[in-house]
Amino acid sequence: MTGRYALETTKGTMLIEVAKVGDGLDVRIQTLQVGIWEKPKMTTIDGNKITVESVFFMFPKIVHQAVFEYTGDGYVVSGSYATIGEISGKAVLFTGKTKEDLMYAELPSKRTGKVVHRTDEEISREVDALMAKMTLEEKIGQMSQSAGNFTAAIGGDVDSELSLDEMIRRGMVGSVIAMTSAANIYEQQKIAVEESRLGIPLMFCQDVIHGKSTVFPIPLGWSCSFNPQLVGEAGRVAARESTPIGIMYAFSPMLDIARDPRWGRVSEGNGEDPYLCARICEAQVKGYQGNDLYDEDSMMACLKHFIGYSAAEGGRDYNTCEITETTLRNVYLPPFKAGVDAGAASVMNAFNTMNSVPVAVNKYILRDLLRNELGFDGVLVSDYSAVEEAIAHGAAESRKDAAVKAVKASMDIEMASTTYLENLKSAVESGDLDVALIDESVRRILTYKYKTGLMDDPFKYLQPEHMDRIFSEEHQEVSLRLARESAVLLKNDGVLPLKSGQSVAVIGPKGDSTDLLGPWQFSSYSDQTVTLKQGLEKKGVKVYCEAGCDIFDEIEGGFERAKAAAAQADVIILALGEDMSMSGEASSRQNIVVPQVQIQLAQEMLALNKPVVLVLTNGRPLLLDWFDQHMNAVLETWFLGSQAGNAIADVLVGDYNPSGKLTISFPRNQGQIPIYYNHFSTGRPYTEGMADKFRSRYLDGPNTPLYTFGYGLSYTTFAVEDLQLSADTMTDAQEIKASVRVTNTGSVQGTEVIQLYIHDVAASIARPVKELKGFEKVTLKPGESTSVVFTVDEPMLRFFGFDNRLISEAGTFELMVGTSSDDRDLLKKEFTLVK
Ligand code: NOJ
Repeated sequence: MTGRYALETTKGTMLIEVAKVGDGLDVRIQTLQVGIWEKPKMTTIDGNKITVESVFFMFPKIVHQAVFEYTGDGYVVSGSYATIGEISGKAVLFTGKTKEDLMYAELPSKRTGKVVHRTDEEISREVDALMAKMTLEEKIGQMSQSAGNFTAAIGGDVDSELSLDEMIRRGMVGSVIAMTSAANIYEQQKIAVEESRLGIPLMFCQDVIHGKSTVFPIPLGWSCSFNPQLVGEAGRVAARESTPIGIMYAFSPMLDIARDPRWGRVSEGNGEDPYLCARICEAQVKGYQGNDLYDEDSMMACLKHFIGYSAAEGGRDYNTCEITETTLRNVYLPPFKAGVDAGAASVMNAFNTMNSVPVAVNKYILRDLLRNELGFDGVLVSDYSAVEEAIAHGAAESRKDAAVKAVKASMDIEMASTTYLENLKSAVESGDLDVALIDESVRRILTYKYKTGLMDDPFKYLQPEHMDRIFSEEHQEVSLRLARESAVLLKNDGVLPLKSGQSVAVIGPKGDSTDLLGPWQFSSYSDQTVTLKQGLEKKGVKVYCEAGCDIFDEIEGGFERAKAAAAQADVIILALGEDMSMSGEASSRQNIVVPQVQIQLAQEMLALNKPVVLVLTNGRPLLLDWFDQHMNAVLETWFLGSQAGNAIADVLVGDYNPSGKLTISFPRNQGQIPIYYNHFSTGRPYTEGMADKFRSRYLDGPNTPLYTFGYGLSYTTFAVEDLQLSADTMTDAQEIKASVRVTNTGSVQGTEVIQLYIHDVAASIARPVKELKGFEKVTLKPGESTSVVFTVDEPMLRFFGFDNRLISEAGTFELMVGTSSDDRDLLKKEFTLVK
């Protein structure tokens, strides 16, 4: 029964590898259309019959089932498989060589191992020499990124007259979104290097967002760690797991500032604060790119989505964004500036319009702001079909017009759509486009092919010798650390940490689920995600576990079984939330609630009169007012990644004292959206409790969020006291120091994030009521004190004024230090900037 079997399908040959593992059988499937060996979600073996269940990553709710019945010389197959669809026929013994076998055999002779470290000048000379040999068509090819594999991976038919291989052979492709295997990458690189006229290697890119094989918390989650360095380590791990299989260009970090939780992509970014997002961005760029892009475990980082995408009206993905110039620069720009300054190799445009012009063809945003003002000279890649979409936006009258406008705006690479391939040559010939602009783009692209060493050793990123790094224990450890620090304790009446010997009922669709990785991950190790039930059991906790219901639907007898399980336990842990498809791209929600059936389950649990703890898995803030009122404790865990169950268990039993702080406001009510801590004062500011009607307020609810930015509880308490300023005036040249004494006033060791906020009281334009300007994480034993000192200098007080100049203005500033952005958690002093 063991061995490799091949089945012909309408989409190509499918390989089924059945191997013996211990007493059982293990099944791996390779759909040649995609080329990734996949482990089906579930395999059951009954005599000669193997039944596999698989899910298609974008649509986890659609479960495919296929049956393989062994007949002595092969398997009779029926059913459907995720990335292929319907399958039936006979799978016969496969004795040939797979692409992987060939790759392993040939690679040693292909790797040159000779990467030349060149100076920028030397690279420039090499690029000149190469470009002198290139035809216009070949240049346009470098500017075209094929999504052939990606389209196939997400189940689509690749609609092109020429196969991807043939396009590569003809020099019509410069880079590929590679949702594919190392073997396919090898094959395509070989065609590029050995069969295309100039042999220019391809760049292989992927959405490596929060990990590759080892998955880390979603970025919204990891931002709550307030630990940029650790997020940088996660980026390093992602690069070290991507590069051995040929992926050398990550479409990350995502830097969109989140002010609207209806928008599903808040899960992919670092929350609502530009300063924190900028610090995390720097660490991520460093993590992906390492010390030197030449290193074989470094990959190119791509800052996205430039710019303003998260301001989509109504929170509806891809919708219009209208942002004033000052807000654009003061709120949305800083993370990108930080990323450019950190040396990010690439930037991706946002899908939206900015000042009514789609960014993909927006010369002001791309050429003037990004290139000329921020000084970005790396590779600008369009988002998926964004160039073509200028037509749907109504800002280009034809595919040629879209292509020409994009190049004029300095868009180097067109991803997925093919307007460049079809039109740029004729645009140059007709005089609609200056060939110098094409040369400019090609120069930038080729420069990075040199800077990464691809030109010297095109196969350098295929490293069978480093496969053992992937999903290694060491990487799991980094994922666990970051997951622990990302969880945020929102409420606790003392029920947590669990007391030793207490038994728990883990109730809810997330209790024993591996759907804890979140959107934008394509790990083939998802089946090894640690569930909450597993995590608690490993701690020796007695666990009674029942799903009770699905994410949206009842399951037959579910509530009854959940009640019976809960009746046996001391504490009920409700594991509720969203599934991975409910956040991320194209996952906007009008109602950001915990689905109704799960609330019913929670009500059933409350009726048992036992302590109930909510453990939430979700990709955005949800409305939690009801839970806040009724639960004994609420733990926000986002999607914590491969080690989620272990991390949550650590927090629940108190082996890790929670330290995460929210980086996005949780509204009480949807009508408050957009809601964020760094808002303007308005002309009629309102403080809760004021009697005056004519204030900026609602008639039917408070202004404040349920949980604010910077908020998060610990199992201990901290006192922040004695705010001192070294002087109450400062100048452009003379900084001041702000210090506080922080004491752990509780009975266990804990970590607190001390936050510094500044408010420019009166300026030439309105400035936010407060803005984060620094933070420090301190760990203290019970009774221990430390002093935290922040330096305040003039650059910290700068903002973009009316005329788009970065300035600081003389006058009074409020400085606040404390444990959240809530005024009640902050000490305040004033100082003056003297010019
Ligand atoms: C569209 C998304 O907006 C972008 O973030 C992603 O990198 C590309 N697709 C490629 O998958």
